[in-house]
Amino acid sequence: AGHQVYVTRDDMPECGVDLLKKECDVKLWNHSSPIPRAELLKAVAGVNGIYCSLNDKIDQELLEAAGPGLKVVATISVGHDHIDVAECRKRGVKIGYTPDVLTDATAELTLALLLATSRRLPEAIHEARTGGWVSWAPTWMTGPGLAGATVGIVGFGRIGQGVARRVKAFNTARILYYNRSRRPEEQETGAVKVSFDELLAQSDFVICCAALVPETKEIFNKSAFEKMKKTAIFVNTSRGGTVDQPALIEALKTNTIRAAGLDVTTPEPLPLDSPLFKLKNCVILPHIGSAAIEARNIMSNLTAQNILAALKGEPMPAELK
Ligand code: GLV
Ligand code: GLV
Repeated sequence: AGHQVYVTRDDMPECGVDLLKKECDVKLWNHSSPIPRAELLKAVAGVNGIYCSLNDKIDQELLEAAGPGLKVVATISVGHDHIDVAECRKRGVKIGYTPDVLTDATAELTLALLLATSRRLPEAIHEARTGGWVSWAPTWMTGPGLAGATVGIVGFGRIGQGVARRVKAFNTARILYYNRSRRPEEQETGAVKVSFDELLAQSDFVICCAALVPETKEIFNKSAFEKMKKTAIFVNTSRGGTVDQPALIEALKTNTIRAAGLDVTTPEPLPLDSPLFKLKNCVILPHIGSAAIEARNIMSNLTAQNILAALKGEPMPAELK
């Protein structure tokens, strides 16, 4: 006992926090709004472990504020672009994250967003509620179907593969993917590795499942949207930073592409006056990719287990190497 752990939110799923409380001295941010940066810097002073989320920037300044007693930072997310990995390594601070356990939830949400965007569900729901539903009409509220379509997946990791398996069940004609390396998992879905430009040119649906790293920063820029079909639907469930957002807004306004479904934006939350909210051909979700109840509970447990293992010097169940 005696290990001090700081939890950066008061609404982390309880199961994980309870695990920590059994073995550690746990302090947490006791307010429903996110912890302000200045408070976070004060709160982590002297702790041995930090249970954080993707809202918390774990950089040199924060690691400095925590001090040399810090052994582990564990995030309740698979994405880790908010963590300065090199700086953690330099200081011997281990990093825990939550791969695998949110793959199904995030792939499910990706399909939900894709269909909501292509079949215009938010618009249709609005019409039904506000008197726009005058009669069944043959060309009203139509959008492209998945059956027979070519789907392009950018980033063929666990989540991208999960999306491929799911879209295959919709009788798509072809699945293309773009990824640094060829993935043996392509065989299961018949997905074909192509260049980024070829994927953009051929896909009816372009889905971003790529982690945000320097090589993927704003890969969806003006030139990328111009290479897509005019009928293309773009879906992003990874990170807003993979998209040049002003270029996307322009592409949607000028019908360079048909529509976009975004679970992630720049910044988050997306300001209410963002032009994206004014576009009928854009569906915005508030970053809920992994928000299946089961997934979030398992993510919380895994985050706690990562911290406990690191503090005991044992192998962590999900260490970012
Ligand atoms: C969510 O975006 C995650 O990285 O887990
Ligand atoms: C990570 O981003 C994954 O695809 O699992």
